[in-house]
Amino acid sequence: MPYASITAVASYLPERRLTNADLEQMVDTSDEWIRSRTGIRERRLAAADESTSDLAARAGALALERAGVPPEKVDLLVVATSSPDMIVPSTACLTQALLGMSCPAYDVNAACTGFVFALHAATASIESGRARTVLVIGADALTRHVDFTDRSTCVLFGDGAGAVVLRASKEPGVLGIHLGADGAGADMLEIPAGGSAAPCTPERLAAGEHYLKMNGNEVFKFAVRRIPQVTRQALKESHLSVEDLDWLVPHQANERIIDTIADRLGVPHERVVNRIGDTGNTSTASIPLALDSLYTGGHLRPGDVLALVGFGAGLTWGAAIVRWTEEVS
Ligand code: ACO
Repeated sequence: MPYASITAVASYLPERRLTNADLEQMVDTSDEWIRSRTGIRERRLAAADESTSDLAARAGALALERAGVPPEKVDLLVVATSSPDMIVPSTACLTQALLGMSCPAYDVNAACTGFVFALHAATASIESGRARTVLVIGADALTRHVDFTDRSTCVLFGDGAGAVVLRASKEPGVLGIHLGADGAGADMLEIPAGGSAAPCTPERLAAGEHYLKMNGNEVFKFAVRRIPQVTRQALKESHLSVEDLDWLVPHQANERIIDTIADRLGVPHERVVNRIGDTGNTSTASIPLALDSLYTGGHLRPGDVLALVGFGAGLTWGAAIVRWTEEVS
């Protein structure tokens, strides 16, 4: 059976910055509140003519370049997103066209856990022998769905994309993945209108039902309970323990969540990737973005063991244990 290895990572952040000082002019908030409650200083916003597929294609193209893989050699493209360009066609198909690829392409929606779910699907394709090279992208422009008059959500989110190239390898790279979902918690984080349950009408638009709604306190409690649990499950399936981890790469939603997860797992903070300050919560892009900051910072060494862990709407959660390698069979 072939194994799957991550052989390259890359990311893309749009140019436009929205700082806490900018938000102070828009809603009743303060830089002090946002930094102390979330760790966020600024976030990026997609330009008016930039959509999720544009962000995805920028990250995907750089990942392919770093992997030395021409677009025509990719067997499968999986794009994780919960802010697709449109309902149909899929963002993956739009991204595939932008990248000049011809392989099958599909979207995965598991909100902020989407990247881990997409990695699961890509790993299974490689291990089953159905694909040898898969481009996995996490991309979101969630600020398009945020109400910039609602201070409880608008300070949290930013736009971005991250991508990895997964290839068949002789040595195991993706060591284990554990996923979870609980639809009973669906109403904790939702965009109520715009789908088949509640198509957009003038009344629903006027009531702001097309904006993201969140029970922040409940999501916080869910995250700090589930993430240590699923990380331990994925480590167990990989026959490893917390002490074997070189890096914990958690979904970047709130610095206090990141710190609590690390403390509950017993991972020293210097081994935890925290780049929420300059990105905010980029949803499914946040894990590959954080991984790319480790890579570009020169911190990743071949053989390093990483836990990529996420949680999000659905509810969904997941952890992937990965051994870093840039070698390909
Ligand atoms: N500026 C100033 N005050 C604010 C702001 C703001 N931006 N937002 C809320 N407040 C106020 C509230 O109104 C409240 O005031 P009150 O005490 O007078 O009622 C007070 O601050 C405290 O509000 P809380 O909601 O209790 O604040 P908390 O410390 O819980 O932080 C936060 C809120 C940051 C949302 C936190 O709960 C959180 O991060 N939750 C997790 C959210 C998350 O991870 N979401 C993404 C999931 S991933 C996905 O799928 C997209």
